[in-house]
Amino acid sequence: MRLPGLADPHVHLREPGSEEKEDFYTGTCAALAGGFTALLDMPNNPTPTVSAEALAEKKRLAAAKIVCDVGFNFGATPTNAPVYPAVIPEVAALKAYLGETHGPIVFGSLEGMLSVFQGWNSPKPIMIHAEGPIVAATIGLAALYDRRIHICHLSKADELTLVRAAKERGLKVTCEVAPHHLFLTREDAAPERLGPYGRMSPALQTGRDIDELWQGLADGAVDMIATDHAPHTRAEKESSKPPFGVPGLETAFPLLYREVYRGKAGLTLDRLVELMAIAPRRVFGLPQGDSEIEIDDTEFIISSENLHTKCGWTPFEGQTGRGRVRRVWLRGQLVFEDGRVLASPGSGRVLFSA
Ligand code: DOR
Ligand code: ZN
Ligand code: ZN
Repeated sequence: MRLPGLADPHVHLREPGSEEKEDFYTGTCAALAGGFTALLDMPNNPTPTVSAEALAEKKRLAAAKIVCDVGFNFGATPTNAPVYPAVIPEVAALKAYLGETHGPIVFGSLEGMLSVFQGWNSPKPIMIHAEGPIVAATIGLAALYDRRIHICHLSKADELTLVRAAKERGLKVTCEVAPHHLFLTREDAAPERLGPYGRMSPALQTGRDIDELWQGLADGAVDMIATDHAPHTRAEKESSKPPFGVPGLETAFPLLYREVYRGKAGLTLDRLVELMAIAPRRVFGLPQGDSEIEIDDTEFIISSENLHTKCGWTPFEGQTGRGRVRRVWLRGQLVFEDGRVLASPGSGRVLFSA
């Protein structure tokens, strides 16, 4: 079976600064193995992508190493709005970590949030990392300032209720759901199960939340799947302070396609292609129709032994997948076949570059 190349707007490729977890080559190899031909990289590196210089450096490093197409999301800080006009043509979107979260780019004040919404004068989306009431606040700001917002890794039923209401009002609000929030529950994060390997932000939720997310995938309230591929080393995960995040590029399609095959929530293959290929490209302005993947329509057992991600583990170890990616063509070129990356480092394109 042939499908369009998948696209993921939410990936942490980790370079520069955390190459022990992933780098531009290993992360984009994992992408091809998972059927993704275009990715958007997130800005929360140790030196975050919050300046024109940091963005240029990322692009320079990526150009030499990537094997699929990669665009970049710029990071908002409470004070960096003055650089937005210069970077808007160079990026896919703005990423704002609002509310309670981690890393060097956290917002504590309304003043900072206002500067983001007033400053980002572009039809490109503001991607929001937020949970609970802050999701409501950002939808309010999007309405007041007429901005396009995209809620990242939406995980709770009540947040989906807000997105549905915003869409009914005609607001420019889209959202993504990550596979771990569809397939794993709070119980899976127990110490005797996944323990630190089930720790991510937002956290795993309840069965009720999961049912609502599946409903939203099928009926259109959820716009797309995004993996939030966030690799960390096993040593970090097993430390006394395990970081948040799980890898996801190589397991997303096989898990979702398995459920399409089983008829879950009425999700069709056409709808899955919309969620994983068409919608992310449309919303983030990525090239449409330039790549293709071939799927082997059989079941297999997900195993960390076959992964390309540098972190070398998956929270879905031992689960059944369906639809292993056999071949990937990027602009007509065969770049992946039967577990092997054929493309040479640097053959992918840096997107949004003049
Ligand atoms: O689980 C997460 N991991 N959530 C985030 O917001 C950051 C990410 C990471 O970079 O590891
Ligand atoms: Zn996030
Ligand atoms: Zn993320």
